[in-house]
Amino acid sequence: GDVAVLVPAAGAGLRLGPGGPKALRLLAGEPLLVHAVRRVAAAPSVRLIVVAAPAAEVEAVQELLAPVAPVTVVAGGAERQESVALALAQVPPDIAIVLVHDAARALTPPDLIESVAAAVRDGHPAVIPALPVVDTIKEVAPGEIVLGTVDRSVLRSVQTPQGFRHDVLAAAHAAAADQLTDDAGLVEKAGLPVICVPGSELAMKITRPLDLILAEALLNLP
Ligand code: CTP
Ligand code: MG
Repeated sequence: GDVAVLVPAAGAGLRLGPGGPKALRLLAGEPLLVHAVRRVAAAPSVRLIVVAAPAAEVEAVQELLAPVAPVTVVAGGAERQESVALALAQVPPDIAIVLVHDAARALTPPDLIESVAAAVRDGHPAVIPALPVVDTIKEVAPGEIVLGTVDRSVLRSVQTPQGFRHDVLAAAHAAAADQLTDDAGLVEKAGLPVICVPGSELAMKITRPLDLILAEALLNLP
């Protein structure tokens, strides 16, 4: 394997409602993080997995994941981008490709991890899985006044894992000025090309209570 996968899992999960850090919330009896790491570890290219856990849960997460896969666990930060940077610091320089993957995308198939890694290996410095936007999208002004309809054919909903050449991700994080919601955004700001590969409906992000219900249904698909 030539790939390290960073798994930011230090978020509070506020939008999921009360019940503790999201990565430790149960889906079919197991924490979301266990589902996520099991699938990451099943991807043949993966050599190293680094999890950024809630600071108070580092030891608990080490124990939780020990039977699932060999992982390095670090304490995450206050923002996702900080958690990613803290995990990235654990990746040795001889690993050429780094993927950044949300613990909240717990059902992401190993095949998607492989396809993102393969596109980076093929020479793309930054690769993100994406799906078409299904809703009609409106631009609005204050007061919910509709300004117009956005051409959705040029829009994509993006997922994780996002894959990068190690040096490109490290430089993008070192240069980061604001907190962005994804890592490709940092690479875009650095002026480097980012390309999309087909995403997966199974890589949906578990964000709100309805998503947990949907994820449970997806888990029970044949
Ligand atoms: N994350 C992190 N460190 C943070 C914030 C988020 O590692 N300080 C991680 C989350 O654990 C999650 C991923 O980034 O796996 C995507 O974030 P999101 O879905 O927003 O999760 P939360 O921040 O936990 O949820 P919310 O925004 O609803 O509180
Ligand atoms: Mg969040």
